[in-house]
Amino acid sequence: MKLNRHPDSFLGVEQLGTFFPPYQPTFPFAGEYIDDFHARIGSCAKGSGLVNLDEVFATPIKGWLRRADALKLYELGYFVMGDILELGSYHGLSTCTLSRANHNTGGQKRIDTVDLSAANCAKTIESLRAAQLPGQVEVTCAEAAAAVRHFRDEGKRFAFVFIDHSHSYQPVHEVCRLLADIMSPGGFCLFHDFNDRRNGDSAHPDYGVYRAVIDGLSPNSFEFYGVYGCTALYHACS
Ligand SMILES: C[S@@+](CC[C@H](N)C(=O)[O-])C[C@H]1O[C@@H](n2cnc3c(N)ncnc32)[C@H](O)[C@@H]1O
Repeated sequence: MKLNRHPDSFLGVEQLGTFFPPYQPTFPFAGEYIDDFHARIGSCAKGSGLVNLDEVFATPIKGWLRRADALKLYELGYFVMGDILELGSYHGLSTCTLSRANHNTGGQKRIDTVDLSAANCAKTIESLRAAQLPGQVEVTCAEAAAAVRHFRDEGKRFAFVFIDHSHSYQPVHEVCRLLADIMSPGGFCLFHDFNDRRNGDSAHPDYGVYRAVIDGLSPNSFEFYGVYGCTALYHACS
């Protein structure tokens, strides 16, 4: 299958947050959207703004996904052939989006989601139930890097990892250094908040997603695939 890469969407540090590149498909499919659900996500936000998926999921779920972020998340959840890991579920907006993609492709993938906060884990379970998406999702209350080490030691491999647990350099860098050990060959990882003006802004010294990804992912193991909204997509070399 010929995948679409968008190397020109890479942003220099001075460009971060000045614009949000639109959604473009990685996997080939006919038309503008994959299916009705993807189309509903596409119509839930104007331009590059945040999506409100309350009506789509028939329950309010707080979160901060831009239109392009949510479309890309659904696409990857839909097309990858293997299990999915999410780091940082908050109230389950991204978790429900991934779970819906899994459900709409037969529900054969297992989704693991990890969050440090027990309250947020409980909220994610509640959101999945309210959105009628139970099953196939394992919610774990743990620190992200510790959870990744645990999966690595168990020999677990993921076809897609969504990284959205922290905005700080150290926790994201630590995960980046571990990712190659848990990715299936040809798997994808998507970093939220990569394209955010607070990265590299001296007024926000704690914000370090962009730098952590650049420093932490080995170019021998990962290839840049594109920026969509505020996310950056990387592909694990086979
Ligand atoms: C930005 S929110 C995630 C939003 C969610 N992905 C969405 O799109 O709906 C970040 C979440 O990561 C959790 N978190 C922060 N630091 C963490 C860490 N080191 N390990 C695991 N979870 C962490 C927070 O409790 C919070 O719920």
